[in-house]
Amino acid sequence: MRNKISSLDFTDHEYFKTELGILVLGDARELVKSLQSLSVDSIITDPPWGVGFDEYDDPDVFFDIEEELFRVAKRDSWLVFFYTS
Ligand SMILES: C[S@@+](CC[C@H](N)C(=O)[O-])C[C@H]1O[C@@H](n2cnc3c(N)ncnc32)[C@H](O)[C@@H]1O
Repeated sequence: MRNKISSLDFTDHEYFKTELGILVLGDARELVKSLQSLSVDSIITDPPWGVGFDEYDDPDVFFDIEEELFRVAKRDSWLVFFYTS
């Protein structure tokens, strides 16, 4: 049986699953596109700050997908993110 979150098939990704939920390792810019609209209870993220940490430290990642995050979030949900000022 394939493992799915909403319409997201994460079988090809590393994941950790408990009765409380699933943690999927992957590129958030791609994974978020597969989620159904209005299906996410909360979004808590610490996106790259653009301080030269590593090759993945692109400060635009969060802003590249902010419209997708709004699309998948339930209307009474929370978005919490840590970011540099
Ligand atoms: C500010 S760090 C977060 C550190 C984390 N909160 C911790 O305590 O270890 C940003 C993280 O986002 C990851 N990242 C960068 N681009 C990403 C993407 N497109 N999708 C998912 N994660 C990404 C980076 O590899 C980095 O680990």
